[in-house]
This record gives sequence, C-alpha cells and structure tokens, in this order.
Amino acid sequence: MFIQFKTVSKLNQLVNTMSKLCFDERVVVVTGAGAGLGKAYALLFASKGAKVVVNDLGSSRHGDGASRVADTVVSEIKSQGGQAVANYDNVLDGDKIIKTAIDNFGRIDVLVNNAGILRDKSFARMSEDDWDIIQNVHVKGAMRATKAAWPYFKQQKYGRIIFTSSNSGLYGNFGQANYSSAKMALVGLANTLAIEGQSSGINTNVIVPTAGSRLTEDIVPADFYNQLKPELIAPVVAWLCHEDCTENGSIIESALGWAGKCHLIRSNGSILRKSLKDSLTPETVRDNWDQVTDMSTAKRCESIAEATGELMNVIEQLSSSKTSDSSSSRSFDPKYTIKYTYDVKDAILYALGVGATTKNPDDFQYLYENHENFSVVPSYFVIFGPLGALGSDMLVTALPNLGEINIAGILHGEQYLKVLKKIPTEANVETRFRIQETLDKEKMAVILIEHETIDVKSGEKLAVGQMAGVIKGAGGFGGPRNSDHEVPLIDAPKRNPDISVTQQTCVDQAAIYRLASGDMNPLHIDANISVMGGFERPILHGLCSLGFATRHILQTFARGDTELFDCVKARFVKPVIPGQTLRTDMWREGKRIHFQTIVVENNSPVISGAYIDLKDVKLGNQTSKL
Ligand SMILES: *[C@@H]1O[C@H](CO)[C@@H](O)[C@H](O)[C@H]1NC(C)=O
Ligand SMILES: *[C@@H]1O[C@H](CO)[C@@H](O)[C@H](O)[C@H]1NC(C)=O
Ligand SMILES: *[C@@H]1O[C@H](CO)[C@@H](O)[C@H](O)[C@H]1NC(C)=O
Ligand SMILES: *[C@@H]1O[C@H](CO)[C@@H](O)[C@H](O)[C@H]1NC(C)=O
Ligand SMILES: *[C@@H]1O[C@H](CO)[C@@H](O)[C@H](O)[C@H]1NC(C)=O
Repeated sequence: MFIQFKTVSKLNQLVNTMSKLCFDERVVVVTGAGAGLGKAYALLFASKGAKVVVNDLGSSRHGDGASRVADTVVSEIKSQGGQAVANYDNVLDGDKIIKTAIDNFGRIDVLVNNAGILRDKSFARMSEDDWDIIQNVHVKGAMRATKAAWPYFKQQKYGRIIFTSSNSGLYGNFGQANYSSAKMALVGLANTLAIEGQSSGINTNVIVPTAGSRLTEDIVPADFYNQLKPELIAPVVAWLCHEDCTENGSIIESALGWAGKCHLIRSNGSILRKSLKDSLTPETVRDNWDQVTDMSTAKRCESIAEATGELMNVIEQLSSSKTSDSSSSRSFDPKYTIKYTYDVKDAILYALGVGATTKNPDDFQYLYENHENFSVVPSYFVIFGPLGALGSDMLVTALPNLGEINIAGILHGEQYLKVLKKIPTEANVETRFRIQETLDKEKMAVILIEHETIDVKSGEKLAVGQMAGVIKGAGGFGGPRNSDHEVPLIDAPKRNPDISVTQQTCVDQAAIYRLASGDMNPLHIDANISVMGGFERPILHGLCSLGFATRHILQTFARGDTELFDCVKARFVKPVIPGQTLRTDMWREGKRIHFQTIVVENNSPVISGAYIDLKDVKLGNQTSKL
C-alpha cells in the first residue's frame, strides 16, 4: 500500500498522542507529600513507573504519634505495585531528603518542591517570627532541597524542578503578607534557575495550584470547592516533569482540570521627555500617566536583555529627537559639519580597510560592486568622527584650556553608531557634530560628541551616533564626572564566549585604513608621533578594529547581511599594532551580540563592554546552535 507523506505524519501524530508518558527508571522527590497536592503528585508519579521519595514531617492524624503520614502514602503506593520510600526530614534539611533518594534509588531526576505551611494575619499584626518561619519553609526549604539535588542534575545533564507558588503571591491576598512574599520569591528563584540550568538539561517551572484548603473553603461556593481536587492538578505537574516536556522558566496556573501559563507583562510605556538634555518633573509624569499605564499594547519581555534592550531604544529616540527648545547652543553648528561624497570605490576601500577579504565568502558582497548584495560595511559612518570632531577646534570650545595638550594625547574612547537607513553605496552626505557634555575624569577629560549623517539629496537621516573623545591629562577642571547623555556600555554575560572569530590584520592595515577613512592622524603611521603619544609603534585606528568586529559579527550571526545591522557600542581599551591577530569573542543574547576583541599575540583586550544589536539573526550551518 502506498502511504502519502501527509498520512504518515498524521499517523505519527496519532501515535504520539496515544503513547503513554512513563517515568520508568526516573527517581522523583516530592516534598510535603503526606497529604493534599503532594500526595496526589507522589501517587501519580509512582503509578507512572517512577521511584518516589515521599517526604513529609507530619504525624498521622488518627495514629499514635509514631505513625507518619509519609508512611501511609508509601504503603498506598506499594499496595498498588509501585516503588516508594518515606522521608521525614524538614525541608530545611533538604540534603537529607535528596540523600534518601540517592541511598535508596541511586539517583534523582525530578524534584517537586511542594512543602509549605500557612499562618494568616493582617500585615499590621504579623510579627517578624511569623515572617521568618514562612520564609524558612517556603523559600529556604525549597532552596536547600534544590541545592542538594542540583549537582546530580548538573552531572547527569538532566533534571526537572518544580516550585510551588500561589495566587496570593502573584496577585496578593489579605492577611498573607509573609506567605505571598515567600511565594513570589520562588518565582524569582525559578526564573534564574531556568537560565542557569538551561545548558545542563535542567528545566525549572513554577506551578500555581488552586486546591481546596481551609482558606479557600470559606470563600468559594461548595460546588466549586469540591472540584478543587489535587488529582486534577497532579497530571499538569507530571507533564511538566516529563522528559518530553521542554517547558522551562514558566509559571503554570492550574485547578479544576484547567491549566494556563502566566507572564509578567509590561506596557509599551511612554517617553517622558523630548531629548536627552531635558530634565523630568513629577508634573510631566502625572500628565503622561495614562500612557505609562496603558496596558492595551503591553507585552512580555523574554529576557532581561530584551527588557533593558528596549530601554536602549529610548536612549536612541531621545538622542535623535530634535531638541525641545530652540536655543541655538543645542543645534548643530554648520562649522562642525563634514560634507563628503563617496562612491563604490570608497565603500570597497573601507571594506578592505577593516579587513574584508575575498578569501571570506561573506565579505565578497562588500568588495565586488556587481555582487547581487553589494553593500557597505555598516560601521562606515563612524569614519567621519575623528575628522569632524577630534580634528577640529571643537575640542577647544569644549575645553578652553586645552592649548597645551598634544594631539597624540587625544584618543577615541568610546563609539556608538546606529544606522537608520540602508547605507547607500554612493552618496553625497553631511555628518554634523555637536558637543553634548564635557566630563571630568580627574586624569583625563572626556568629551561626548553627538553626530548624525544626512543624505544631502534626499534629506534623510542615515545614521546617528556618539563618540567619546578622551584627552589625557586634561581632567581636574571641576566638571561633572558622569552624564546621562552617555550611551552606556554593557558587560558581556559571565560565561565563556559562545563563539569567536580570529583574523590577522595585515602589517599595512593602518596605512590602508588611513586612506579608507580619511583619518590621516600621523599617530597611525609616524613612529616619532606615536612615541610622543606614549606608544612604542604606530597603532591601528580603534575604529578599524571596530570594523573588523562588525564584519565578524555580521558573518557569524547575519550571514554578512548588512541590512540586519541596527547599532553598535564599543569602548576602545588598548591599541593594536598592525599585523597582530584580532579575536572577536561573541555572546548571543537574543538579537544582541555582546562582544570583545582581544589581541591574540599578547591576550590583551582591544574592545570591551561592546555589543551590536541586530534587527534579526540569521544563522549558518556552523552557528545553528547559537
Ligand atoms: C504569617 O504571618 C501571620 C501574621 O500575619 C502569622 O499568623 C502566621 O503564623 C505567619 N505564617 C507562618 C506560616 O508563620
Ligand atoms: C529553558 O530551556 C529551554 C530549552 O529547554 C530554552 O529554550 C529556554 O530559553 C530556557 N528558558 C530560560 C528562561 O532560560
Ligand atoms: C511605544 O512607545 C514608543 C516610545 O517608547 C513610541 O515611539 C511608540 O509609538 C509606542 N507604540 C505604541 C504602540 O504605543
Ligand atoms: C543576497 O541576499 C539574499 C537575501 O539574504 C540571499 O538569498 C542571496 O543568496 C544573496 N545573494 C548572494 C549572491 O549571496
Ligand atoms: C623621527 O625622528 C628622528 C630623529 O629626530 C628622525 O631622524 C626621523 O626621520 C623621524 N622619523 C620620521 C618617520 O619622521
């Protein structure tokens, strides 16, 4: 018989939906499993083949003090042919509970942190002991048990963790100040463990059960109350703990045979001032409050990187927006404008200047004008900075007593650039500069210079940016140390780089880059000048290393596609001598690629605190896992 492909996949689906979830060979620890939810979990896991540690410190209600509720549950499991062992330790002795699993069954795969207690009073009457006992059982107890299981999970590269939160935590509940804060603390713990465990196959989730309890009994109708059965929540927890379930870092609410996922969401918010120069008053906040709190377009941020990343857009909007007042000091002075016509040859020369090579297939589109995707390496519009700002009398206006500073003492400290429109391969452009602020860093002065590049013909703004010029020896003039104009650097995540690209610069790299960028500063070619600047030999332009990194990141995360480039921010730390080898270390966090550049020969950092935001990530075969 001939079975069509479609039919086969339908069949597969059917087989999948019919297959039973089993926990054979899996060892499950459930805390607080003597009754209620915990008991329902333990019974269900055992019936599905798991070896279960039934933890509960409570004594049986009707029994003599010696019989324990955990024993009752273990007997029930055994009578149904399952495997289980009891443990009576307090969750604060979490290591003993986990040890019971290891001693009896040799491993642990699943930990359901379910143990908890309730003690309700209004906040005014709550004592600090009331607070501590709740924190101890719910938060510290869950932490201790999890901490004891964690090394086993890490080592076997597999684990499933459940924390039990509560609607009182997510939504608040009268009389449960201690309880609700403890329950919400578990959400924070789960959020971080989901991230930390991700690379070790450890999934951490939060269950928010609504089960019948003394509390709920009083406040809900009887029909409803009678359906709040633990047995209707246990299957949701069992699924979350199965190896086929990839859910991680989620909050799942469940009751009555219903389950739903819960998120923190954030409104789009409202920018409360017009430009970086403006301050903010409580009155303005009041006047915009409706927009700040308008949840109609609210959405979830998938990660801390995304949450803060969106704040970067605010900075960009503020720095690109026209000034709110019309004072002339705020506008661009035509005196500090560079007009420049470039064509495809300049674009190609720039690509060569930043190390593009025909040896690299992804670079070819920057080097050959007939290539289908011929385009300009998107760091291009930084080249006018050193010419327009550092080379003009702009610095003197910023620092009137600059007279004695040697040109070799002027360095490019940091650079930010955002590309707003696809960079034309030939154009007549104007880059305008203005000083935002002069900072006093004691030993040196830092001048923040904003720039924007306009396509003269269309009048469109192509790029905006900010450079930080460092003037050695010019500090101590009593200016501010920091400024909220500064586009901040962002540290790379504290893990090894996800991927690195290594490329040797050529001995004439600075000589080529001088022509490519027009930045003819002799520091980059004249040994005598570089010695005056404190360097043994002529150094490569910092912006040249930045161009290398930009290409490396585009080739790794965008298959070279320049249209996916959004913005870059970098700090130039130490110089590169032409001919040295650059290694760009990259960390991907969503669409943000953190990076640093290292000189391989002496392991010395060149660029740090840097990132490139992409509009989208396009991975190749080798990078598909990143
Ligand atoms: C929580 O605080 C209340 C007082 O607000 C107290 O009665 C109760 O015992 C505390 N809960 C626990 C579990 O200690
Ligand atoms: C949890 O792990 C999954 C893979 O199982 C991953 O896709 C997800 O991003 C992780 N969640 C968090 C919050 O790290
Ligand atoms: C969201 O806020 C940004 C400013 O942060 C604004 O430019 C944009 O128009 C807003 N979008 C919506 C849908 O309100
Ligand atoms: C040009 O870019 C498109 C879209 O990214 C891609 O599909 C195509 O293969 C590229 N062309 C060449 C010659 O690389
Ligand atoms: C550097 O200075 C020395 C001594 O003054 C001089 O002989 C040499 O020509 C200079 N080199 C350059 C590249 O100007």
